[in-house]
Amino acid sequence: MQLTGAVALITGGSSGIGAATARALASVGARPLIAGRDAERLASVASETGGVALQADLAAPDGPETLAEAALRESDHIDLLINNAGIGWAGPFGELTKAKVDELITVNLTAPIQLTRLLAPGMAQRRYGRIVFVSSIAGATGVRDEAVYAATKAGLTCFAESIAYELADHDVGVSVVFPGAIDTPFFERRGTPYHRRRPKPIAPEGIAAAVLEVAEHDQSEAFVPAWMRFPARLHGAAPGMFRALAAQFDRPPKPGKAAGQPADPS
Ligand SMILES: NC(=O)c1ccc[n+]([C@@H]2O[C@H](COP(=O)([O-])OP(=O)(O)OC[C@H]3O[C@@H](n4cnc5c(N)ncnc54)[C@H](OP(=O)(O)O)[C@@H]3O)[C@@H](O)[C@H]2O)c1
Repeated sequence: MQLTGAVALITGGSSGIGAATARALASVGARPLIAGRDAERLASVASETGGVALQADLAAPDGPETLAEAALRESDHIDLLINNAGIGWAGPFGELTKAKVDELITVNLTAPIQLTRLLAPGMAQRRYGRIVFVSSIAGATGVRDEAVYAATKAGLTCFAESIAYELADHDVGVSVVFPGAIDTPFFERRGTPYHRRRPKPIAPEGIAAAVLEVAEHDQSEAFVPAWMRFPARLHGAAPGMFRALAAQFDRPPKPGKAAGQPADPS
């Protein structure tokens, strides 16, 4: 995909990975449509990037429709849809409320599926476009204490894998990006700080670069950091061994101590 001049709708563009992606896209001459809820942060990213702020709550029943309509009022076509908005939750499964389960599934899984349903037909008709899904290493392996979050990301990954076959028939590409631990407000907002000594969270610009790279070079997936592909591959090739290692390393931390798990919890 030629990114210069491309119209890109980025969900979760008001913070973290999405804001970094909007900046990276603007720096190569793309036109970012920046979606989120927080009007002030949206306006700030929009003015920094010369993009357009689109306010929509993806947890609301008509959130994806509202956003797709607003995006198509700004531009008669979308070249690049980056399904990035997401929320986390970590802790014992028994402590999750029904409302939080619903919110996790709606924002992380239902909304990207609905946005794809709304915007992919336009791309297919033009025989041009790409949809990038920001998943998580948690969705590739499963992670202790993040069962529902991991399930939403696994669902997102499998949706992307599946829809890619259909969209390829119309020259529309699909990519999945798997972040490890990224230094954004994500952990603070989910209410549980990142507690592991390693891997150290990396800057969101690393994910933004991967998003641009998969779009520009028609790649189906990227792990960031790149070594994160090894736990994912080990889980696929030797799940028993992966589980034994994860159980060994991913014990809950003792009070005041960090766990030594090699994979990212998000
Ligand atoms: N940070 C990590 O370590 C990490 C690791 C793996 C995967 N990820 C994934 O990366 C993606 C981006 O996360 P991040 O780290 O950049 O987190 P972040 O800084 O907390 O940003 C999350 C973004 O999602 C938006 N969002 C949340 N709920 C929304 C809703 N109901 N409606 C519309 N927008 C909503 C937020 O918008 P407002 O602030 O405007 O509400 C914000 O722009 C997420 O899908 C996350 O699961 C992150």
